[in-house]
Amino acid sequence: WGKEGHIMVCKIAEKYLSASAAAAVQELLPEAAGGELSTMCPWADQMRFRYHWASPLHYANTPNVCNFKFSRDCHNSRGQQGMCVVGAINNYTDQLYSYGDPKSSYNLTESLMFLAHFVGDVHQPLHVAFEKDEGGNTIMVHWYRRKANLHHVWDVSIIDTVMKNFYNRSLDTMVDALKGNLTNGWSDDVSHWENCENKRATCANDYAIESIHLSCNYAYKDVEQNVTLGDDYYFSRYPVVEKRLAQAGIRLALILNRIFDKDKADV
Ligand code: ADE
Ligand code: ZN
Ligand code: ZN
Repeated sequence: WGKEGHIMVCKIAEKYLSASAAAAVQELLPEAAGGELSTMCPWADQMRFRYHWASPLHYANTPNVCNFKFSRDCHNSRGQQGMCVVGAINNYTDQLYSYGDPKSSYNLTESLMFLAHFVGDVHQPLHVAFEKDEGGNTIMVHWYRRKANLHHVWDVSIIDTVMKNFYNRSLDTMVDALKGNLTNGWSDDVSHWENCENKRATCANDYAIESIHLSCNYAYKDVEQNVTLGDDYYFSRYPVVEKRLAQAGIRLALILNRIFDKDKADV
């Protein structure tokens, strides 16, 4: 996602944090965050040029097939295993479990900021997509009358158009609407979204599988080089974007609640 998508995911997550998770997040946030996780959620994208090794951690690509297999697909260009968005989520989650351990040598502030960002990214369908087109980055399209690439349409353009059409260009109004949906329209789905049997590892692998399916069934569907994407595409895809932002927020909260409520869960 772009900056706005990441902020929305984290604003939703903040509302679903338990008291102990909220307290731990407050303690880990840097001064510059102003006490809000959401302000730090786009940070990992600004670091993409400084932390070169972290660039592949934003996504995972498949060999042009509509399924995701960790052992086949989760690696960087040098073939190092686990160097993709799913591995990153599990790795930073693992680091955060050392919170409160005086022997921990991790920078848990960075671990939290990376985790919050990557849980957002794994829910952007085209962050789990085809290698050959770099998740839609090499597919040039027109978004209405403007030139864009397909990846950017899903990171930014659909969200911008939704905000403009429905929410008075206001991010906070859109977040409030998504929160409202979580307690009304989607309320029956939320417990399914939260369903994760894995104890200490996350269910990021499942979220990646959902994303590659959405890439094939929605993002790539009926798209070819230089196509114009307008109302037909927009009205059938924006509900997917809204749902993925909400799911990401719910699941980020779930992961953080499990990490920071662990003392209670272990006894
Ligand atoms: N670069 C290469 N593949 C990518 C993807 N799926 N998402 C974002 N950036 C990428
Ligand atoms: Zn992206
Ligand atoms: Zn990213």
